[in-house]
Amino acid sequence: MRTVFWEQGEVVVIDQRRLPQTLEYKRCNDYRQVAVAIKDMLVRGAPAIGATAAYGMALAAKQYCGLDKRGFLLKMEEASKTLAATRPTAVNLFWALKEIERVIELNSDKEPVEIYRMVLDTAEKIAGDDIETNRKIGEYGSRLVPPGANILTHCNTGSLATVEFGTALGVIRAAHRQGKNVHVFVDETRPRLQGARLTAWELVQDNIPATLIPDSASGMLMKDGRVDLVLVGADRIALNGDTANKIGTYNVAVIARENHVPFYVVAPTTTIDFDLENGDQIIIEERDRREVTHIDDMAVAPEGVGVFNPAFDVTPEKYITAIITEMGIIERPFGENLRRLKQKIKGEG
Ligand code: MRU
Repeated sequence: MRTVFWEQGEVVVIDQRRLPQTLEYKRCNDYRQVAVAIKDMLVRGAPAIGATAAYGMALAAKQYCGLDKRGFLLKMEEASKTLAATRPTAVNLFWALKEIERVIELNSDKEPVEIYRMVLDTAEKIAGDDIETNRKIGEYGSRLVPPGANILTHCNTGSLATVEFGTALGVIRAAHRQGKNVHVFVDETRPRLQGARLTAWELVQDNIPATLIPDSASGMLMKDGRVDLVLVGADRIALNGDTANKIGTYNVAVIARENHVPFYVVAPTTTIDFDLENGDQIIIEERDRREVTHIDDMAVAPEGVGVFNPAFDVTPEKYITAIITEMGIIERPFGENLRRLKQKIKGEG
């Protein structure tokens, strides 16, 4: 299932807020609608956000390629700023916007209509590469999944969080397709219920055996020896391996360590922030209090109560067994191995 695509000059996304009740698509013909789709979480999940922003830039290029060059370039700058201001934590968003900006800059001597074509091609490439990357991640990651494994996962890292295949859920999918007979414990993932609404939905669609649990049950399951490994995604990985992911990931990691359960982070290399030394500098998005006080329109808390609603937390690298990427499995020590990877990707130290 494809989460985001370009069709007849428009950006089409699945409105994930409507799942699992309805599979509904939203068509955007203005880049500002794309920005709202990211901010309001019609589209969410780090790689999906990155690809959607890239398509948003293609849409802006289409909207403004009739202007003179200066006007066009100014509008593109404005579009990039608007898209960058949607969500602060997932680095894929900023990575994708940088890729597009680089193409615009390298071709700024060309006519706007030519630049539009190039921006669209780049957005299509970012989306296509994400699909390919996730399949490779699935191949590598599934080697770490023993037959009959009980896997615990948090949030949604599936088709919906990427362009098509998924990261942590891609590994699960690959292991299932290899006939490994896996079973998945799905954290419901309060407050937005990405686990219950999205991951459980994807697993049921794929006929992968799954059990939905309240987030607070994962400790008991691990203590009772009922979980063989944990697979989670990431929104930003620092150079030392510290990993930002959906709020509650840290709790899972600590309990996994306490109970000797391997804890794997699964992500494309576009989720690694090679400019960031450690997780302390990661900006953690805080979202609306209503996400905690209400379920849909029903209040589940008294009106006057204070609310703290961080969307992500940072798991210190010491709790992470390995990081599974499309370029292979990164083992500890992460500081050393991620620097080596940086050198390979960027050709610098
Ligand atoms: O707030 P969300 O739903 O965008 O958060 C998503 C996550 O935290 C995912 O685990 C992460 O983006 C990895 S998705 C492959």
